[in-house]
Amino acid sequence: MITLITNIKELLQVRETAIDKVSGAEMAVLPTIKNAFLILKDNLIEDFGLMENLPKIKADKVIDATGRIVLPSWCDSHTHIVYAGNREQEFVDRINGFTYEEIANRGGGILNSAKKLNETSEEELYEQSKLRLEEVIHLGTGAVEIKSGYGLTVEGELKMLRVIKKLAQNYPIAIKATFLGAHAFPLHYKENKAGYIDEIINKMLPEIAQHQLADYIDVFCETGYFSVEETQKIIAAGIRFGLKPKIHVNQFNSIGGIQAGVRFKALSVDHLEIMNPEDIEALKNSETMPVALPSCSYFLSIPYTPAREMIQAGLPLALATDFNPGSTPSGNMNFVVATACIKMKMTPEEAINAATLNGAYAMGLSETHGSITKGKKANLILTKPISSYYQIPYAFGSNLIESVFIEGKIIV
Ligand code: NIG
Ligand code: FE
Repeated sequence: MITLITNIKELLQVRETAIDKVSGAEMAVLPTIKNAFLILKDNLIEDFGLMENLPKIKADKVIDATGRIVLPSWCDSHTHIVYAGNREQEFVDRINGFTYEEIANRGGGILNSAKKLNETSEEELYEQSKLRLEEVIHLGTGAVEIKSGYGLTVEGELKMLRVIKKLAQNYPIAIKATFLGAHAFPLHYKENKAGYIDEIINKMLPEIAQHQLADYIDVFCETGYFSVEETQKIIAAGIRFGLKPKIHVNQFNSIGGIQAGVRFKALSVDHLEIMNPEDIEALKNSETMPVALPSCSYFLSIPYTPAREMIQAGLPLALATDFNPGSTPSGNMNFVVATACIKMKMTPEEAINAATLNGAYAMGLSETHGSITKGKKANLILTKPISSYYQIPYAFGSNLIESVFIEGKIIV
């Protein structure tokens, strides 16, 4: 099946030769072709170029994209889409003056979601989660990472990972699974932290590895959650079971999680709201992708990742949603891109690079996703008629998407 898209006003993120990420000053460069054509063959990108060079081909379907922009679909490398119920009461409690930390300390927060998850059947959890996955696909996401971490019991964590696996089997977008058993200490282990870590390492990890339920291992490395020492112990065990680390660090405090992540060659370190100069230094010349989650900062009213300082220091940066019931009940990558521009002072070019190419890197999908490159997946966003790609962050509350292509097929 050949699909030909003609008269594209501007084709974004065109990479003739595949690159795996952009860093520092390169992030400001977004290669594009104005007045372009794009040819899709089955599920892959076959060819592209200037309209004047359009080859004579027999297409099964021709789409005239006059006035419209085409870009690779968003790569959301950090989500917790699989969860049960919601935490809207905590949202109202925060409006009334309680902090995220105070709510967590009185048994709300992650433990609240864990209680709900363990009371919900696997079938019901799948039904609730698939609606969120369908929603983000309609919003232009074409590859997503999903974490466990609301089970905090052997059964609960395995249930979450099985739901992620089923989503990956039933939906056409790429899904990577991350085991986040170390998201919080369950109440009955509050006085026996070593006991819970033992359960993660000796009960959960062997089952997960045996049934091939995860690609990555994550830990919430934060004051009041998992210390750097505990984090290192858990990621070292994950690596022994074949899982590469992708870890939550520096959300509220800088305690050395980034340095631990870099030492263990983490694929990514995520959140990074609180960064000191040593944290930035540690990331230089590493293969670890820093990932910012601006809609979490927005929802919790906490600082934004200092993107300018990081890019100035030559680092790459990826953007992701963190879609979860507590700190970011939104999976809208369009909003993430806009918020990165508006609040973190990223340019539209930097934000689009961060949400496509660098996002693909942060979930190990550089070879197949994140750019318009021959042979990559035909996962695309076709916008409505717009004046320029600046509209994507500028018109921050509007839905500018006309169609979404996943593996060459129009989904929306
Ligand atoms: O990435 N920070 C840790 N975990 C999630 C939120 C967890 C929750 O509140 O449910 C996050 O923000
Ligand atoms: Fe998260």
